[in-house]
Amino acid sequence: MNLPLTVNESTLVLGIETSCDETAAALVMGGHDVVSSAVSTQVDLHAQYGGVVPEIASRAHLDLLNPMIARAIVEAGISEERIDAVACTVGPGLIGALLVGVSAAKALALTWDVPFIGVNHMEAHLYAAFLEDPTLEFPLVVMLVSGGHTMLVEMQDHGQYRLLGQTIDDAAGEAFDKVARFLGLGYPGGPAIDREAEFGDPEAINFPRAMLNDGLDFSFSGLKTSVMNYVRKHPDVSATDVSASFQAAVVDVLVTKARRAAEQVGARGLVLGGGVAANSLLRERFLTVCTDTGIRGFLPSRAMCTDNAAMIAAAGWHRLRSDGPTSLDAGAYPNLRLPLLP
Ligand code: KG4
Ligand code: ZN
Repeated sequence: MNLPLTVNESTLVLGIETSCDETAAALVMGGHDVVSSAVSTQVDLHAQYGGVVPEIASRAHLDLLNPMIARAIVEAGISEERIDAVACTVGPGLIGALLVGVSAAKALALTWDVPFIGVNHMEAHLYAAFLEDPTLEFPLVVMLVSGGHTMLVEMQDHGQYRLLGQTIDDAAGEAFDKVARFLGLGYPGGPAIDREAEFGDPEAINFPRAMLNDGLDFSFSGLKTSVMNYVRKHPDVSATDVSASFQAAVVDVLVTKARRAAEQVGARGLVLGGGVAANSLLRERFLTVCTDTGIRGFLPSRAMCTDNAAMIAAAGWHRLRSDGPTSLDAGAYPNLRLPLLP
């Protein structure tokens, strides 16, 4: 295999992402320079079922992945020979969906005779911010809030992570989705509640802020139950007030814990990531925390918060530099965890 002698600023990595319901391919140079990024979301395919259907996701990835790779290469205006390595999400995610990307990435790496790099999807989310601001400094606190995860991670250096806190039950995005479904607002629930909340009173109902004064872990399952109980008892309450009050409760907890984490570790930067980072109130309150504490804050664009392949290529570049290529014998790992410091 023709390994690049050194992984450097001109090393061009093709990233591939198929872990859930986004099919994506991107080319990133030097671990931070996005040359092209193509994403196809399957949200419309799953909307009628109120959530992601794994079998439909895998079949859609099969149809969409080659066109996304072709688009990334065409948009970059390069030929395939210029690609130095192929990085792909190997977990966590839906097994059938992951296998589509992993098989394609290995096949391309073999065909082009370049290294294959298996990437941890959660680690890639941590790298998303660097794509838009490569000058971020360590230690960095990243709050990852998505449909599957709610975690606070301290990035001490590249590849050096400490888990500061996480949800003990539902993820924040999951709570948004479940409450939206209960209120009949549709799927995905986060954007629907965000829109609805704009017209509601966030103080109309005082929903619980679980574990607010207690450490850095989160719990959202009680809040969801509390919303359901309230609506059952007050059937005439407006969905706008429920949405605004629910959203205020989630965001209060998220920003309080993000601030506590950043202060505890003496962070030089605070970063938001994951789909829930698109929430309007969360973005606004997050910036207020940064202004109040003087900690440098970074809010990635919506495209970088949600699943994309540029972050996979970026994390892949760093892993190739630190660990070298991944064996082609490696598989896909639905329950893969973020590699943490001992
Ligand atoms: O990171 P992501 O695209 O996919 C994974 O879960 O991996 O996150 C999707 C989650 C969904 O739960 C969705 O409802 C939530 O992010 N979300 C939002 C908003 N946009 C997306 N939650 C609150 N407000 C939003 N504007
Ligand atoms: Zn994700």
